[in-house]
Amino acid sequence: MTDSDTPLAGRVAYVTGAARGQGRSHCVRLARAGADIVAIDACGPVAEHNGYAHARPEHLAETTSLVEGEGRTILATEVDVRDLEGQQRVVAEAIEQFGRLDVVVANAGVLNWGRLWEISAQQWQEIIDTNLTGVWNTVKATVPAIIDAGNGGSIITISSAAGIKAVPGCGHYCASKFGIVGLTNSLAIELGEYGIRVNSVHPYGTDTPMGNDVSMYQMFADHQRFIHSFSPGALPTDSLAAPDLVSDIVVWLAGDGSSLVTAAQIPAEKGYLKV
Ligand SMILES: NC(=O)c1ccc[n+]([C@@H]2O[C@H](COP(=O)([O-])OP(=O)(O)OC[C@H]3O[C@@H](n4cnc5c(N)ncnc54)[C@H](O)[C@@H]3O)[C@@H](O)[C@H]2O)c1
Repeated sequence: MTDSDTPLAGRVAYVTGAARGQGRSHCVRLARAGADIVAIDACGPVAEHNGYAHARPEHLAETTSLVEGEGRTILATEVDVRDLEGQQRVVAEAIEQFGRLDVVVANAGVLNWGRLWEISAQQWQEIIDTNLTGVWNTVKATVPAIIDAGNGGSIITISSAAGIKAVPGCGHYCASKFGIVGLTNSLAIELGEYGIRVNSVHPYGTDTPMGNDVSMYQMFADHQRFIHSFSPGALPTDSLAAPDLVSDIVVWLAGDGSSLVTAAQIPAEKGYLKV
């Protein structure tokens, strides 16, 4: 194995929502690129109105064995991103174990459906608390450790195509994902002097439990005009994207090959935003 096979060797990456889906894929791919992994996930129900099954502890255990299969070390903990002190405890343990933190992937997120004036205050708050405040909690918990390590770094927030183009039927989700863009770009400017880059990634339909959430079809059945907001994109396929393809972008942003890129919104959506 050459240095170019493991561009992240010696670095440590913190990934939220790591039990399954895109978060698991990011853990495995960052490990394959040489990084040790700090992984958290709630591993349980996070939003009452979700139309798809929640992750379970055995999913995080599977992520752990996949990362170990790549020959890297992983510290995996069941923590909800809404729990700031929990995240701070994990970061403290990670610094004790690994001595540094270089990369953060703020990936944990939830999605459910309903028109903005019809969802309950609880449904609104559950999405905002995980998708936006959860990302801020991750920033608050990790940034001091990255600055202290003094090696620069890369923070990657996972927004959505719905964080650039608002769609109907999940306005609370769009609001949370647009919010991530503002947080990302402010943070990028604040952290520039430390050589720490901050960028957001914007996936579209991705092949995960969230991406396969069939509860959206009821929304389309009730409001057929909404379907026009969800085109398949520019590339000649209407299938869901493999999480590994989003990880290609995450690994690139984590490494030195993207050293000129900060305060940027990186699409992972097959041109959907331009169609
Ligand atoms: N799948 C898609 O089509 C799609 C499209 C655009 C953006 N995204 C975004 O990508 C990210 C990853 O989603 P995914 O598709 O892998 O979904 P997923 O549901 O398969 O995985 C999400 C993971 O995050 C965890 N999680 C959720 N809330 C949490 C919380 N409060 N605390 C800790 N962990 C929590 C879940 O337990 C789960 O393991 C999300 O931010 C999502 O909004 C997904």
